[in-house]
Amino acid sequence: MKILMIGASGTIGKMVTAALKEHEIVAVGRKTGAVMADISLETAVENLFKQVSDIDAVICTAGDSVTANLPEMNKEQFMVGIQQKLWPQINLVLCGMKYLKDNGSFTLISGKMGEFPVKGSSGKAIVNGAINSFVIAAAQEMPRGIRLNVISPAKVSDINGDELIAAYVRCLETAINGEIIRVGYHKQ
Ligand SMILES: NC(=O)c1ccc[n+]([C@@H]2O[C@H](COP(=O)([O-])OP(=O)(O)OC[C@H]3O[C@@H](n4cnc5c(N)ncnc54)[C@H](OP(=O)(O)O)[C@@H]3O)[C@@H](O)[C@H]2O)c1
Repeated sequence: MKILMIGASGTIGKMVTAALKEHEIVAVGRKTGAVMADISLETAVENLFKQVSDIDAVICTAGDSVTANLPEMNKEQFMVGIQQKLWPQINLVLCGMKYLKDNGSFTLISGKMGEFPVKGSSGKAIVNGAINSFVIAAAQEMPRGIRLNVISPAKVSDINGDELIAAYVRCLETAINGEIIRVGYHKQ
């Protein structure tokens, strides 16, 4: 498969990329990767899909949000997650579904704080919850057999690497659609 791997140089991206060696990986980042693109910019996303053809799968392991206690959170800080993690991933799907090959797949990223928040995680929680909701809703409307799923990891130190990789392989290689795959939640 030809996989557009957004965030390949990151903590999670590196683990996933290393495990998917048998595939053709096109690594994307703002400052790293074979193709450089900032997915928070809409023109950059459209250009990315025009530039890289014949994509079977898109995996996104990129996106920032703010961690701070609620009294310190303001609109600007909430907007970081919306503009850097939520909207870019929605836009990847909206734009990419025109270009992806038939029966291709999108695998987005959210995080455990969307369902099991701790103090200081409201900026992450609203974004992760919204990404999960987007996936279960939008998966019903994917065209041409394209599938849409999301991995929701706990913090990397609580994750078993094999479990994380198995989750990505399930999204790539099985027929699942509209699933939230929770990884490492057991260590609560
Ligand atoms: N690490 C954890 O414990 C954990 C747990 C649960 C959920 N998550 C979520 O998983 C995602 C990845 O986390 P991580 O710790 O692996 O992050 P990370 O180490 O900071 O890596 C982020 C990766 O994404 C790329 N990137 C960031 N913003 C981008 C943009 N606007 N356009 C294109 N590429 C971009 C970065 O490359 P460049 O610097 O070149 O742009 C880098 O390759 C995040 O959304 C995070 O919230 C992480």
